[in-house]
Amino acid sequence: MAPEPPLLTMSGITKSFPGVRALDGVDLQVQAGEVHCLLGQNGAGKSTLIKVLAGAHQPDGGEIRWRGEPTALRSPLAAMRLGIATIYQELDLVEGLSVAENVHLGHEPTTAGFVVRGRAAKASTAALLKRLGHAEIDPGRPVGDLSAAQQQIVSMARALSHEVRLIVMDEPSAALDPDEVDNLFRIVGDLTADGVAVVYISHRLEEIRRIGDRVTVLKDGRAVAGGLPAKTTPTRDIVALMTGRNVEYVFPERPAEQAASEPVLTVRGLTRRGEFAPLDLDLRPGEIVGLAGLVGSGRSEILETIYGARRPTAGQVTVQGRVLRPGSVRAAVRAGLGLAPEERKAQALLMLESVTRNVSVSSMSRFSRGGWLDRGAEREAARAASPRAVAPPRPAVRPRAHPLRRQPAESGPPPAGCCAATASCCSTSRRAASTSRAPSCTR
Ligand SMILES: Nc1ncnc2c1ncn2[C@@H]1O[C@H](COP(=O)(O)OP(=O)(O)O)[C@@H](O)[C@H]1O
Ligand SMILES: [Mg+2]
Repeated sequence: MAPEPPLLTMSGITKSFPGVRALDGVDLQVQAGEVHCLLGQNGAGKSTLIKVLAGAHQPDGGEIRWRGEPTALRSPLAAMRLGIATIYQELDLVEGLSVAENVHLGHEPTTAGFVVRGRAAKASTAALLKRLGHAEIDPGRPVGDLSAAQQQIVSMARALSHEVRLIVMDEPSAALDPDEVDNLFRIVGDLTADGVAVVYISHRLEEIRRIGDRVTVLKDGRAVAGGLPAKTTPTRDIVALMTGRNVEYVFPERPAEQAASEPVLTVRGLTRRGEFAPLDLDLRPGEIVGLAGLVGSGRSEILETIYGARRPTAGQVTVQGRVLRPGSVRAAVRAGLGLAPEERKAQALLMLESVTRNVSVSSMSRFSRGGWLDRGAEREAARAASPRAVAPPRPAVRPRAHPLRRQPAESGPPPAGCCAATASCCSTSRRAASTSRAPSCTR
């Protein structure tokens, strides 16, 4: 008897956007009942590939087979009919609608051809939420009132409200605390035990070891490895495939003497009543300090307070011996601090402004000449800070969000902060600070 064909075979998939070849002949093969992990650095093409799989993008070339049969995924509906469901990185829920309405959006439950609203939709939603370990979510509540983790569960309930054979999860653990990740993995285990295939995108290697069966690695729009064993492929091999470099290059050894030098950033007794207790912190040149804690434990609040975007109730922040004015972003930026906030689109980018303006926005005074803006100098500085993003002048960073999603307010406040050009959250030396004055939020 001929062996069963793979559930999904994507071969030589190509997809270009203006100026970018996002997918350059990608192959992906997924078996029923497996957890297939998709790995790759930012911009490798993971989200584009799964949007092709979800019928949201049409590929320019290549072939897709579903259980051995050539197929065209011409629309999200066509993918859904085959049993392909996607939990997007940026959830596509309608915040003003209730949980039950979101779960059944576009396919309200019917009895004898009549749409059943209200109670039946709520009851079937409640059953799905219970299966997902979240019986506490009220199907009648507006989705906008739920936490990020709960919204993800709603998105998953919506996926499971169809007959699903393959479920794609794009970085599902990013917004979850460890208990919620455990629950997610239990759900993944239940699904695969029922023969459902899961395509799982994550940056976290430990997760891939825990739940993955096989791994496909994308780099610059190509699959550089397909179907590697998830549990046993050495980390150094995976890092080398993802980055094209060896581990020693990606994580170079640090000079030891740096630990002895004076801190560039000193935090003493920094407090915000009700958010976080007094905090002391010293950061030396070249150092990366990890700030660990559960969702809601105050990590972002601490960073935003150090950066001056929140006013502390007590305590002080010192940069290279200079005490910063509390609650002043201007003072922090002047002293050479940069912040790469959690939600870049909402907190760090002006989505309708050009790349150049986004890069220069937190240091505009540098380009002011007698009340006029020196656009040439502005563009030059932006190009120097972010050569790839600014190279050909482009009109704007247009939002790519789902049309039903709420857009960031156009007339809202200026961004809370911008990224430093360093790998850590706060720039850590005068040199790093001066090169990061023009922030590179778009990287
Ligand atoms: N809708 C789009 N328009 C223009 N460029 C895009 C679009 N979607 C993705 N890209 C570009 O395609 C490349 C791959 O992006 P993406 O698939 O989002 O990568 P990943 O999910 O691996 O981070 C990137 O260079 C990205 O900027
Ligand atoms: Mg992505």
